[in-house]
Amino acid sequence: MRHERIAILDFGSPYTHILTRRLRDLGALALVYPPDVKQEEILGIDLKGIILSGGAGTVYDPNSHCFDKCLLDIKVPILGICYGMQLITKHSNAKISGETKHEYRKTPCQIVDADSLLFRGIKAEQSVWMSHGTHLDTLPEGYTVSAKNAECAFVAIENQSQSRFGLQFHPEVAHTQEGNAILQNFLQICQMSLDWNVASFIEEKIEVLKNQIGQKETVVLGLSGGVDSSVSALLLQKAVGKRLTCVYVDTGLMRKDEMRHVQQAFAPFDLSVKWVDASNEFLGGLAGITDPEQKRKTIGRIFIEVFEREAKATKAKFLGQGTIYPDVIESVGITGSVLVKSHHNVGGLPERMNMELVEPLRELFKDEVRRVGLALGLPEDMVWRHPFPGPGLGVRIPGAITKERIGLLQEADAIFIEELKNSGWYKLTSQAFVALLPVQTVGISGDERTYENMCALRAIQTEDFMTADWVHLPHELLERCSQRIVSEVKGINRVVFDITSKPPATIEYE
Ligand code: XMP
Repeated sequence: MRHERIAILDFGSPYTHILTRRLRDLGALALVYPPDVKQEEILGIDLKGIILSGGAGTVYDPNSHCFDKCLLDIKVPILGICYGMQLITKHSNAKISGETKHEYRKTPCQIVDADSLLFRGIKAEQSVWMSHGTHLDTLPEGYTVSAKNAECAFVAIENQSQSRFGLQFHPEVAHTQEGNAILQNFLQICQMSLDWNVASFIEEKIEVLKNQIGQKETVVLGLSGGVDSSVSALLLQKAVGKRLTCVYVDTGLMRKDEMRHVQQAFAPFDLSVKWVDASNEFLGGLAGITDPEQKRKTIGRIFIEVFEREAKATKAKFLGQGTIYPDVIESVGITGSVLVKSHHNVGGLPERMNMELVEPLRELFKDEVRRVGLALGLPEDMVWRHPFPGPGLGVRIPGAITKERIGLLQEADAIFIEELKNSGWYKLTSQAFVALLPVQTVGISGDERTYENMCALRAIQTEDFMTADWVHLPHELLERCSQRIVSEVKGINRVVFDITSKPPATIEYE
């Protein structure tokens, strides 16, 4: 069973994610595809409409995206936004001119066609978030103008008999007053049922997983205690019950009492979990390593070794993974970026172990994953946990990692998080933690001179973790954390607060 969907072809618009979200919030499952997707990859009875996103440049640019123009022949409604409108009209032989550089501005717009399907029920005068740069010079054959303004004669065009629509502005951006109504009209033109929500997602996904995995095969999943792997585990369990085995690897680099916490959270679910204590293996492998990249690579390698060993023992055919939609979109992405840190992930595992992948959350954004988790009964504190990196405390202890240093950090971190929760600031920050710095400083305790460790408190707020601001925590809260850490954690005598945003710093220390 598959759900009706709208395919969005991403030509690099900065608003593609917003567009996807808007459509989903209206009850329509929208999925993003790369610009060069082939007709057969998106076609299907569940395809109800196509949106060609905006994007930089013009369709006449020699470097413009490859695009399979057969897509324009698919018999579903098509909406082209900015660059997408140019694409539709280029293939109808209209003339386009202007600059490659786009400038966006809030602009008045006047609806001039009372019979327009896209503007049905929408007031004639409104403001829109318009792209200025490239524009249509002539109206393509078969099209009528449905909106214009003083600067542009073709702000919106439509060809009702072919169900083709073009907009020079972005309906998905909040500055466009009637944007949601326009999108809703498009969905109605597509005859979408608008019944996509968390409950329908769960019901359908269980069916899909049952079909994919079959009646007999087994699945193994790495459970980290993070929200993505936890929700994946619960969905898979609903689909295959005891044929799912989860593997929890205790790297010894976890937060204080982490494994106990995860065990308690899953106790009511009767999930089969292999709790693997590999802390000695990790500590041994990390001994003497101080270079950040070498640490990350070592942790990643040992993790794969341990996980592979445990997973192979289950003889499972399928490997479950908590991949979520932003990961998928990132891999579709058009631009490359510099490697700052090698992320610890198990991306290569399925091929290496010759396993088939099952990714129950592939279509979901993070907040949708959280809603699914809540609907499946995952406790609130698991659903709203801050993210924790794969290499764990290993990237929060610059310099050599020892059992003693991990212990110090776990204690200090637990105090900080407890204080954040007690003061209500935990929910107001995207991620918060303590890092143990590789410096010792002089202090005084009673009459005694001390020469001990220094730690840093870090609290950040972010939308996407690509950039982040430090959070202005109240001084009284910081003072309480500092006093408690210094008095309760033997071995730390100084606490500092990190006031660096990302960029230039990264969120983690290594
Ligand atoms: P940075 O330090 O790169 O972190 O600004 C951005 C976000 O990613 C998390 N992070 C990781 N997550 N494996 C993960 O699963 C990793 O190796 C890893 N390194 C960083 C980090 O906690 C932050 O949320």
